[in-house]
Amino acid sequence: MIEFANVTKEYDNQTALKDISFSVGKGEMVFITGPSGSGKTTLLKLIYVADKPDTGNISVAGWDTDQIKESSIPFLRRNIGIVFQDFRLLANKNAFENVAIALRIRGVGEKEVKTRVYESLKTVNLRHKSDSFPKSLSGGEQQRVVIARAIVSEPTVLLADEPSGNLDPDTAEGIMRTFKDINAKGTTVLIATHNRELYRNSGRRVIKLNSGILIGEEIG
Ligand SMILES: Nc1ncnc2c1ncn2[C@@H]1O[C@H](COP(=O)(O)OP(=O)(O)O)[C@@H](O)[C@H]1O
Ligand SMILES: [Mg+2]
Repeated sequence: MIEFANVTKEYDNQTALKDISFSVGKGEMVFITGPSGSGKTTLLKLIYVADKPDTGNISVAGWDTDQIKESSIPFLRRNIGIVFQDFRLLANKNAFENVAIALRIRGVGEKEVKTRVYESLKTVNLRHKSDSFPKSLSGGEQQRVVIARAIVSEPTVLLADEPSGNLDPDTAEGIMRTFKDINAKGTTVLIATHNRELYRNSGRRVIKLNSGILIGEEIG
């Protein structure tokens, strides 16, 4: 589903990733861990082609990100759900509308949009906040709406960057449960985190980065 072959990425003399190779099979849930600055975010960004590697190859859901035409990138991204700090909610739209966007851009009909958005908000326990605007939601609630938006389209791949950032432990646990549920339905899930609590006793693969180098792998 996702394959990195000898991937190196530098930002003005700063090596973010160095000769990284690994693969993640369809339906796996895998953690990427390492201290701040170790290259976790860069690795996820290369998967949804926010950036391209300097050397090496990456394939995602059958697309070779090296060969992909600029005009095809949106099609690749339609297969990817993204939970990132940079992908905030639109302030002028309520929770329902923020989640609905993910379906409307895919041309889903209004009736189905309604069913699926409510279902998705229910999954993150926010059905009752459908009409709320981001500014009246707590940080954790906003994060859960972002997750609802990422899962509503039932993506092939779900990428989450530090999903527990600014969440209390109970909320973080609920979010992990949501990720496991969507994974159980067949979505391949990749979670970048420096928070050990997220993968401890998970029984899942944990890929360890340090200074842009893949230093090992363990089972959480
Ligand atoms: N856009 C960028 N411009 C310059 N340096 C960057 C950029 N993005 C990341 N880096 C550098 O690459 C390294 C890895 O960063 P990042 O992937 O964000 O690590 P992590 O997510 O593990 O904290 C860091 O040294 C960081 O400063
Ligand atoms: Mg990061």
